[in-house]
Amino acid sequence: QVGQLGDTMGNDVFIVGGFVRDFLLGEENQDLDFVVEGDGIAFAQALNEIIQGRLTIHEKFGTATIQLPDKRTLDVVTARREYYEYPAAMPQVEKSSIWSDLFRRDFTINAMAIQLNKSKFGQLIDYFGGIQDLEDKNIRVLYNLSFVEDPTRIFRAIRFSTRLNFNIEDETKTFIHEAIKDGMLDRLSAERLREEILNTILEKNIQENILSLDRFKVLEIIHPKLQASQANVEKLQTLKETINYFRTYESRPDEIEVVLIVLMHLLSDLNEHDLVESLNKLIANKGNYSKIKETLENRKIIYEQLKQEDLNSYDLYQLLNQFSLESIIYYYNDCDHSYVKHYLLFYVLKLKEIHVEISGEDLIKLGIKPGPIFRIVLERVLEEKVKGNIYRREEEIQF
Ligand code: CTP
Repeated sequence: QVGQLGDTMGNDVFIVGGFVRDFLLGEENQDLDFVVEGDGIAFAQALNEIIQGRLTIHEKFGTATIQLPDKRTLDVVTARREYYEYPAAMPQVEKSSIWSDLFRRDFTINAMAIQLNKSKFGQLIDYFGGIQDLEDKNIRVLYNLSFVEDPTRIFRAIRFSTRLNFNIEDETKTFIHEAIKDGMLDRLSAERLREEILNTILEKNIQENILSLDRFKVLEIIHPKLQASQANVEKLQTLKETINYFRTYESRPDEIEVVLIVLMHLLSDLNEHDLVESLNKLIANKGNYSKIKETLENRKIIYEQLKQEDLNSYDLYQLLNQFSLESIIYYYNDCDHSYVKHYLLFYVLKLKEIHVEISGEDLIKLGIKPGPIFRIVLERVLEEKVKGNIYRREEEIQF
């Protein structure tokens, strides 16, 4: 349909970028990016007449996005002919629009296009050796200043290399080191830097990404003392399995915030002062900030308490009740002591969801006058419930 529309409107039209890369790798990619030589916005409008999605136009950039009912998005970009000035005595060279569009992109493997017009349908456009780099498993930039122009590409290089199991090609590696040394990451806003770091950490192979961030000295930018220690990386290796284990017991398994647990591991060697400085850079949300801080600050006390042989269930409940599930999972993955693990699991399986069902109103009905006594009564009811002496609401009232 897209190719046909291109023919009707007299535009050359291509599918480009991530879709082409993944298509050639035999992977699925639902994000469709089209480049139109000509008026991309008029093209997107005509296309949307046919497919009836939700069209958003960005006049200034000559781009448009169509949101399809099945949540997929389709981006249309206008490609323009541009003149490129070559150094020294070389003349200005006019390049075709699709060349100019592809040349602006991040890596050779992302800078290929497939033509969609009928007469050239399926023709692969690969000006920069993308196919060769796909075969050789290389992440390679198209020009020296790529990372200076867009420092977020540093994170993209790391992400693609771990996601696809590709190498960052040597010269590209040097460009990354130089861009970081020249302070290019400082030019990103705090929010953008945070977003890129967290997205990179969470991409598929967590410990590989963290090691890579360490190797490129990006962790040092968060805090000079922050590094991927051997011990932390080992813990991260078991984390996925631990999280899956806890997910099987959770009623809302998708709500576990993996990134918080990863950060707890990553930041666990820092002293209190360094921890606070790192958190200030990494976390904007106050709730998440204190979750990480309190989990790490209480770690030693928690382990000490949980190493006791004869901890009763109410003491256990009181000890852990203040912590989120992410903290519990972190403690479980961090500590190798069998009692600690046993108690943490017992708490999640048997105690975590226990709460008192009766309220102040019930107490008033029972003839108790409102006051501090309410708290004491409800606390005692809770204790009996946690100890397994009472279960149902009626038993709470009787008690
Ligand atoms: N791109 C770029 N520089 C960036 C971001 C994107 O050159 N900083 C280009 C790349 O050609 C990329 C395309 O824009 O293929 C689309 O970007 P995006 O959707 O973010 O990336 P994908 O390559 O599709 O990767 P992902 O699978 O992570 O979505």
